[in-house]
Amino acid sequence: MNRKAKIIGTGSYLPERILSNQDLEKMVETSDEWIVSRTGMKERRLAREDEFTSDMGAKAALAALKDSGLSPQDIDFILVATTTPDYPFPSTACLIQQQIGAKQAAGLDVQAACTGFIYALSIAKAFVETGAYKNILIVAAEKLSAVTNYKDRSTCILFGDGAGACIVSSTGKGLGIECVELGCDGEQANLLMMPAGGTRCPASKETVENGLHYIKMAGNEVFKHAVRRMEAACKECLEAAGSSEEKVTYLIPHQANMRIIDAIAKRFEHLPPERVFKTVQKYGNTAASSVAIALDELAKTYVIQQDDQILLTAFGGGLTWGAALLSGRK
Ligand code: UT7
Repeated sequence: MNRKAKIIGTGSYLPERILSNQDLEKMVETSDEWIVSRTGMKERRLAREDEFTSDMGAKAALAALKDSGLSPQDIDFILVATTTPDYPFPSTACLIQQQIGAKQAAGLDVQAACTGFIYALSIAKAFVETGAYKNILIVAAEKLSAVTNYKDRSTCILFGDGAGACIVSSTGKGLGIECVELGCDGEQANLLMMPAGGTRCPASKETVENGLHYIKMAGNEVFKHAVRRMEAACKECLEAAGSSEEKVTYLIPHQANMRIIDAIAKRFEHLPPERVFKTVQKYGNTAASSVAIALDELAKTYVIQQDDQILLTAFGGGLTWGAALLSGRK
């Protein structure tokens, strides 16, 4: 029996509210010129105060279900990649299961920071191809504005909110998940983290006063790791799949910074710049959601051909990284 895992539908949701570079100029000492030249970002989206990670995730999930032709009752497992869950527990997967009415589904959250969507693809592929589950909903959703310090100019210019989703199944037409390569390095855990709110440093008056519930990042260090790790993950993934960069139609890298994306692209001499898919200028860095949102935008703006190959890669706190190779519609 052919149980090859395929992405049979995609969806995304971006909140309406826009935070522009001009808005940020009024909040911290920065400039549109600095932000554009150092990050390529012009604007990002912000969720409403009463709109949470699960709400955005549920909207993206319903769009992906519609695209796949399945109903919520067809889903038997939900994987949610997020760094900003509604609660420490229960999982955001349970909240989304309730919101979309996927009554038959089990679910769990995947914590791999910005690489969460690629990690979730690997789990979904294994579940589908072993026959453990048939139709898996992957949601990548983030409300990063809730954990961003809008007084810290080195981080607040970067992050945005939003959600992407896809349905992974062995039946129906879709993008084959050919290969997924993953990695992590806990030695570098302190480079990108939220220091408080876990068991090591539980929430208290002091943790709030000291701003320990916000994202902390050693930007420069993270930058170097991001370029090296994503390049290596892509090359390992292509090799493991028996493919090569000449065959890649589109590269979708994590949308953390235009300079990181350009630096990776330069390391692929056979991949022209127009084949590197970018949303960073309009959505900023949406962490786990970024690749999922970009994949949905690519699928909606480009008719994917049978012999196309789409390479996804991401990198984030942990440190974590990964790459996935998708093949054209079958
Ligand atoms: O999603 C997970 C992965 N995340 C990433 O991969 C992000 C990786 N890092 C980055 O994207 C970049 O490191 C940043 C965009 C965060 C920072 O860019 P940078 O070119 O690495 O700048 P920097 O941190 O080296 O700072 C250079 C200068 C500093 O001033 P001094 O010390 O040279 O006087 C900063 O204080 O720029 C200053 N600066 C700013 N100036 C104006 C930092 N943020 C700002 C700002 N506006 N918003």
